[in-house]
Amino acid sequence: MQKISADVAIIGGGIAGLSAALGLSQRKVVVVTKAEFGKGGSTPIAQGGIACAMGKDDSPDLHTADTLVAGDGLSVKDCVDILTAEGPEQIRKLIENGAQFDRTPDGELSFGREAAHCRRRILHANGDSTGAEVERALVAAVKKCPNIEIVENCYVADLIQDQNGAISGLYGRINGGGDTIVVEAQAVVLACGGIGRVYQFTTNPAESVGDGLAIAARVRAVLSDVEFVQFHPTALNTKLDPLPLLTEALRGEGAILYAGGRRFMCDIHKDAELAPRDVVARGIWAQQQKGLEVFLDATHIGNEFPKKFPTVFAFCQQAGLDPRSDQLPVSPAAHYHMGGVRVDQFGRTNIDGLWACGEVSATGVHGANRLASNSLLEGLVFGARVSVDIENSFATRQRHAIAILPELQRPTFVTDDELADANLLRKTMWNDVGLVRTESGMKHALDVFDEIVARNPQSLMLCNMIDAARIITHAALERKESRGGHYRSDYPNHDPNAQHHPFVYTGNGPWR
Ligand code: SIN
Repeated sequence: MQKISADVAIIGGGIAGLSAALGLSQRKVVVVTKAEFGKGGSTPIAQGGIACAMGKDDSPDLHTADTLVAGDGLSVKDCVDILTAEGPEQIRKLIENGAQFDRTPDGELSFGREAAHCRRRILHANGDSTGAEVERALVAAVKKCPNIEIVENCYVADLIQDQNGAISGLYGRINGGGDTIVVEAQAVVLACGGIGRVYQFTTNPAESVGDGLAIAARVRAVLSDVEFVQFHPTALNTKLDPLPLLTEALRGEGAILYAGGRRFMCDIHKDAELAPRDVVARGIWAQQQKGLEVFLDATHIGNEFPKKFPTVFAFCQQAGLDPRSDQLPVSPAAHYHMGGVRVDQFGRTNIDGLWACGEVSATGVHGANRLASNSLLEGLVFGARVSVDIENSFATRQRHAIAILPELQRPTFVTDDELADANLLRKTMWNDVGLVRTESGMKHALDVFDEIVARNPQSLMLCNMIDAARIITHAALERKESRGGHYRSDYPNHDPNAQHHPFVYTGNGPWR
């Protein structure tokens, strides 16, 4: 067993985790990433940009107002105000750290417009490659910090608690097999992204199987609003996994949705293709339920396409399509988790020694539905806030020694049976806990998950997926209304008294 000691362990190497790491660079920090450093997770593949009220006609208050509307009554205004007010300063720091955003011919930052934003406020890099540029800059900045150590290709199996229940480290497996690693730390930050891969169709990378949600739940961290999953309306409907995203900016540029040769979104919402994401996603789903294939027509962009949307263009080419002349087959796909580990304005969880930021956390900023391009900004702003809070906490927190740990006994190789059950889980989540939910469907899903547990009592690969799937399903069963990303055909209306939904997982099963 390998053991490392640090002041802070950060699980996740995307925008949230690296912002926190840079803020703590005077401390000994270990950043643990599931894939190769800088390669995995959602940040490097984020196409859409970063929303930020930096334009001359814009203000944090206007940005807040748009965010609150998208959140459908459940956003926490104080946290939204922090996001929009501190966003510009954090963007300037990111630029100082080397991130290059698209600019106008006279050298000013160029702001794009997206659905439900009342101003042009979306920063992009290389058109639709914003996340890749942000990750590149943050990785380069982190590599210059001698106190930050990177442990890559490490699957974090669980958090370690001291005798008082405080988090004092983590343990995981390197390279999916062999060595167990223990990182002993006074503070642990969860910044390990979302849950998209518990769904059959998703835009999320292989890493996003709900690890952070599951390991936090198992130490009884309070979760919040975990029933709210955002389904992006337009993923390219191919056999690829993940499905390539067709950025919302395409619809921002006037791309139109057709099913059976007919434009259908005009019948559903006054803003047609630019209606809120959940409305467009369910509109497409309804056409698919009628047996119709849905297409996005962006041919009007013409020869500008490869320059404006190089990432999408490359995906289309891989699929044998030319977006300059072909309509593109689309499907909704699980894209973002609004809920997560409940945190305060400084990313603190209810568990001593544990912080969370980015998609794994629930600051309440996104409410029931996230506004486009607010996710990278949230990671940036709250990652920085977490670093400040941890630094302040060192004056008072005490490190407790980790008890001797047993080697992880669970086998790490993955069998065909486990893979088949992972696919069954994903299909079940898609069909029963997806865009349109019912009580009977969700109860069926829970039965399927129990059967999967019974067949795989020792599976390290499945345990976090199962726990994340169960958590989302239980929470969705408990919310008896429809709001934002959570739609129940058996409770199709808003409940005017609906509140945030704190959730403590009580499942223990055979996973521990
Ligand atoms: C997109 O480009 O459509 C995705 C951006 C986001 O999820 O905010």
